[in-house]
Amino acid sequence: MEPRPHTLETDRLRKEYPGTTALRDVSMRCEGGKIRALLGKNGAGKTTLVRLLGGAVQPTAGTILVDGTPVSLRSPREALERGIATVHQELSLIPGLSVAENIFLGRLPRRRGLIDWSGAARMAGTLLAELGLPLDVRVRAGSLGLAGQQMVEIAKAMSHAPAVLMLDEPTSALAGRETDMLFTLLRRLASQGVVILYITHRLEEIHRIADEASVLRNGDLVGTIPIREATPGAIAGMMFGEAPVHTRVQAVPVSGPPVMIVNGFTRGEAYRDVSFTLHRGEILGVAGVLGAGRTELLRGLFGADRHDSGTVTIGGRRIVPSSPSQMKKLGVVLAPEDRKAEGLIQILSTRININLAGFWPPSHHWITTAARERAVAFRYVSELDMALPSVDGPVSALSGGTQQKVVIAKWLETAPRVLLLDEPTRGIDIRAKQQVFKIIRDLSGRGISSVVVSSELEELMEVCHRILVLKKGRIAGEVSPRDTSLASLLGICME
Ligand SMILES: Nc1ncnc2c1ncn2[C@@H]1O[C@H](COP(=O)(O)OP(=O)(O)OP(=O)(O)O)[C@@H](O)[C@H]1O
Ligand SMILES: [Mg+2]
Repeated sequence: MEPRPHTLETDRLRKEYPGTTALRDVSMRCEGGKIRALLGKNGAGKTTLVRLLGGAVQPTAGTILVDGTPVSLRSPREALERGIATVHQELSLIPGLSVAENIFLGRLPRRRGLIDWSGAARMAGTLLAELGLPLDVRVRAGSLGLAGQQMVEIAKAMSHAPAVLMLDEPTSALAGRETDMLFTLLRRLASQGVVILYITHRLEEIHRIADEASVLRNGDLVGTIPIREATPGAIAGMMFGEAPVHTRVQAVPVSGPPVMIVNGFTRGEAYRDVSFTLHRGEILGVAGVLGAGRTELLRGLFGADRHDSGTVTIGGRRIVPSSPSQMKKLGVVLAPEDRKAEGLIQILSTRININLAGFWPPSHHWITTAARERAVAFRYVSELDMALPSVDGPVSALSGGTQQKVVIAKWLETAPRVLLLDEPTRGIDIRAKQQVFKIIRDLSGRGISSVVVSSELEELMEVCHRILVLKKGRIAGEVSPRDTSLASLLGICME
C-alpha cells in the first residue's frame, strides 16, 4: 500500500520584527509527493517561513498544521518531534566535532551508559551510504569545505526520518554532481509521501526538481503555480513585481599590462604548479568541480593560508604571499566564500561592516566619519538593492542574501588592484546577481582586475574575459567564453 502523503499547512501565519513585517498572513498548503519550490528575492521572507515551520522562531500570529492537526512548535526539538526537519541556510555544524557526532548530536547511541562511538560512526556511515554521500564520518566537520558541510547538514536532517523536509538554499554551496545526488534523494523522499519545501535562487533548478512553486514578495505570498507555468518571465514578475530586464553586461576587451603574475603556485595536494597572468582590468574565472582546489588557491594567493612554493609578481615586484595584511597593502583583497566565518562581524551594523575593510590605500581613509560611512553604505544599499530597515542595525538581522551583498560591498569599497572573489553570488537573487556582475564589469573598466571562483558555470561564461579550469589542483585548460559553449566548458570540468 502506498503510504498516505503527509500535509503541511499554514493559516494566516505572520511574523513581525522591529521595523519589518517579515511574513504577512501567509496561508498555504503543501502535500507530500510533490516538491514545492519557495522563491522570492533577498529579504522576501523565505527563511522566516522556514524558521517558523522549524520551530526556530515563534509566529506573531497564525497557525501551522501538520497532517491536518494544529501544532505549536516552541523549539526546533518540538518541530523535529512533529517530523519537521530543516536544512538551514546558515550552516550550523560544530567544527571541532566529527561528522558522525554532528549528525547524532544530542542523541548519540549509548552502551552501558557510555557513548558508543564506534556505533555512532557505523550508523552515520550507513546513513551516508544510503544517501549516497561520499564522506568520511570520522573527520572533523570543520575540516570540510562548505559543500561537505552542507552534505552533513542534509544527512543530519535525514537521520530524523522526517515527514516534512525543508531545505533553505541547499545547493548554493554545491557543484553539479552533488546537486544531482541531492535531487535523486529528494525525489525518492517525495515518492515516500514526504513534504518537501525547497528554497533556491538558481531558478533553472526548479524545472528539474520542483512540481510547483510558491513565490513570496515583501512578506506576502504572491501565489503558487504548477511548474510548467513557471516560465522565467512569470517567476520574475511574481518575484519582483515587474517583467525581467535582463541586460547582459558586455565584456570590455582587455589588453592592459599584467598586474599579477602567478608562478608555480603549489600547496601539497590542494593545488600544484598553478601559473597564470592576470591583466589590468581582466576578469578571470576559475571553474572546477568541488575539491578542485579553487578556494584553497584563492586563499593561498591572498596569504590567508601558507603555500609550499611559487611566487606572485605584483606591480612589478616579485613576492611570496605570507599574510592577508601584506597582500591588502599590495592591493589584493579576498571576498571569502563563507561570510559567516570570515566575511562579516555579525553584531556590528551594516554601515560599519561595509566600511570595515576600506583601509586601502590607507591615506584616503584616515578620516572616516559616520556621515561618510553612511553615504558609502547608502550607495551600496541602492546599487545592490539591499533589503534592510536601517544601515545602523546589526547584520545578524539581515536575510542571508542581503548579508552576502554586504560582504561584496565591503570588498568593493576597498577599490583594490586585484579582487579575489570566492562564490560572490552565492545566495543572492537573480537581479542582484546582474548588479554584482555590472559592478565587476565597471571595476574592470576602471582597470581593476578580478579573479572569480564560481560553481555556476553560466555565471562565469557571462561575466569573465577568460576562464581557467582547475582540476585536482592543476590547471587543466583555459577557455574564452566568446568561442566556447557552456556544454564544452562543463565537459572540460567533468572529464
Ligand atoms: N532576527 C531578525 N531581526 C530583525 N529582522 C529580521 C530578522 N530576521 C529576518 N529579518 C528581516 O525579515 C525579512 C525577511 O528575511 P528572510 O531572512 O526571511 O528573507 P529571505 O527571503 O530568506 O532572503 P534571502 O534570499 O536573502 O535569504 C528581512 O527584511 C530581514 O531583514
Ligand atoms: Mg534566506
